[in-house]
Amino acid sequence: MRLIHITDPHLSSLAGQSFWNLRGKRRSGYLSWYRNRQFVHRREILDLLTESAAACEPDRVLVTGDLVHIGLDSEMIEAANWLRQLGPPEKVMFVPGNHDNYALDSLSSMHRHWADYLPGHFPPGGDYTSGYPVVREHNGLKLVGVNTACVTRIFSARGELGEQQRQRLAVALEKSDGDNCFECLLIHHPPFPGMTRRRKSLRDAAKLLGIMGESSPDLLLYGHIHLNRENQHSGFRSFCTASASSVENASFRIIDLEKEQKGWRCRVRLMTLDATASTRSFSLASESSWLASA
Ligand SMILES: [Fe+2]
Ligand SMILES: [Fe+2]
Repeated sequence: MRLIHITDPHLSSLAGQSFWNLRGKRRSGYLSWYRNRQFVHRREILDLLTESAAACEPDRVLVTGDLVHIGLDSEMIEAANWLRQLGPPEKVMFVPGNHDNYALDSLSSMHRHWADYLPGHFPPGGDYTSGYPVVREHNGLKLVGVNTACVTRIFSARGELGEQQRQRLAVALEKSDGDNCFECLLIHHPPFPGMTRRRKSLRDAAKLLGIMGESSPDLLLYGHIHLNRENQHSGFRSFCTASASSVENASFRIIDLEKEQKGWRCRVRLMTLDATASTRSFSLASESSWLASA
């Protein structure tokens, strides 16, 4: 079985927007795009990555958030087209990032345009955690996706699962005796200390690590920090993949899983943009392989 991990495409353009027509936090987000992000996150790179990832013929595409910049309705339409390009909702598993659920009206826009890729209907009271964690099973693979994308104040990119989602997650991660599925947890914010500054961190990271200490997934995939990271923990491995549209380090991961007698053979390949080549392409940057015992 083959999975692809893609994250943080930040694919929308704010070229048609004006600073003066935006309010509050969106003004600072627009300035960040205008001064910096529009030059870092390039659509032509994302298109090349999307094509390269599709050529790998994945069974599932896993996307860990930040499709857009400031959570505007117009951005959601652009992102919906890209999601459909990746594949139908049965094939694409998506969890939102802080730039998706950016302002108070973003969640309703997400549900208007991305409904097929989100759990349930627009939640009453606007509870972003409603319907999460999402659990999907396929040929012994169990995908668990959580939503950490709460709306934050200006200059904050923090995330939070919240108590109720954490409780549901603890149940979702439990494996019954004899259950030898391969569990993969998808999250936008990294749950490990020291990976981001406080204003970008996951508020209830320690509590999440407590849950994972009780029943750990086999694999954790995350985004948000726009860097490639690989770590071994007791009982599982974690991978962060760089932004899918970055001129500096656009990347995706190919994850091959094969059931063996003693567990699951995992092979993870990091494919990174070769910016030095005359024609841009993605090439193998690193590879890991291990046996996740059942
Ligand atoms: Fe991001
Ligand atoms: Fe983020």
